[in-house]
Amino acid sequence: MTTVTARIPATLIPGDGIGTEIVAAVVEILDALGAPFDWDRQEGGMAAIKAHGDPLPPALLESIRRTRLALKGPLATPVGGGFRSVNVRLREEFGLYANLRPARTMVPGGRYEDIDIVLVRENIEGLYVAWEHYIAIGDDPHAVAISSGINTRAECRRIAEFAFDYAVRHGRKKVTIVHKANVLKALTGVFLETAREVGRRYEGRVAFDDRIVDACAMQLVLDPWQFDVIVTTNLFGDILSDEIAGLVGGLGMAPGANIGERAAIFEAVHGSAPDIAGKGVANPLALLLAAGLMLDHVERGELAQRLRAAIDATLREDKVRTRDLGGSAGTAEFARAVVRRLG
Ligand code: NAI
Repeated sequence: MTTVTARIPATLIPGDGIGTEIVAAVVEILDALGAPFDWDRQEGGMAAIKAHGDPLPPALLESIRRTRLALKGPLATPVGGGFRSVNVRLREEFGLYANLRPARTMVPGGRYEDIDIVLVRENIEGLYVAWEHYIAIGDDPHAVAISSGINTRAECRRIAEFAFDYAVRHGRKKVTIVHKANVLKALTGVFLETAREVGRRYEGRVAFDDRIVDACAMQLVLDPWQFDVIVTTNLFGDILSDEIAGLVGGLGMAPGANIGERAAIFEAVHGSAPDIAGKGVANPLALLLAAGLMLDHVERGELAQRLRAAIDATLREDKVRTRDLGGSAGTAEFARAVVRRLG
């Protein structure tokens, strides 16, 4: 039987650029919190390319296969050079079908107060299967571009069930199904139809409604408070999740979880920020919030709540903030302030 004191093996990937700095800050805070993770530290990204010729070397993949759990710093994908996106490779390798992107107002005084929206994005199907080709006409090899999208009933059901289960477990009131079934009647029609079927099974526990994606994008700006949990297909989810991050102050505070059959990988949504790497000024908050999602995932919700409360107190009461949030604290100073709040 698992007890609340059980240690949990997890892979830690510091990654590139600011990765090492923000991972060090997050690990310090998690240690102070008494988080149960036993880290297996693995090299990925540019450092791994230098050492092994691959940004995702076998040892890293083997570690995640074993732990089924990872906290990942940003990995730079070199432009050109024939490297496939590391994130797409991880999605495929571990069947990471659900992308969870919560966004909550943390620093008061922005454009919107009291935002609290969770977006669930289908991560492996839709138009992002990227089945694309060109047809040449005359001397123009790119005269016609064709792309096929794929949504399977089984995957639509799985992502909808993920969203509704998430809503129930986290005391959420409503799931909004976002689609474009008025135009893409087959591709997103099957998603709408299946997600509604799933929604009816949750009647009495979680309410649901639906929106066409363009109307949803506008309403997110006009009246974001009407949304609670949103579930949508891959491309729409990609766009709306960045829009929602913008409502609460941008990518610096946006965590993401990629959850699948064979593993769950938690990360900051932002990249390796080469412009500020090594300066000690990066904001570790997005990765820290991702670590909170990781604690939720391993059913240590009480620790996740303590962590989020300490972050809120640091930002709101102590007003310790990094430069990107208008403050003057460096990465390590911010980490120490959160640790003090945990004490
Ligand atoms: P970026 O997200 O690294 O940076 C965009 C801007 O946001 C920069 O001005 C940066 O200084 C700032 N920023 C980002 N994170 C910050 C933080 N924690 N604190 C303070 N400021 C922060 O995006 P960019 O420059 O387009 O990409 C750089 C590299 O990161 C590329 O190699 C890209 O492939 C990779 N990348 C990796 C991702 C991942 O591993 N999940 C996601 C996005 C990009």
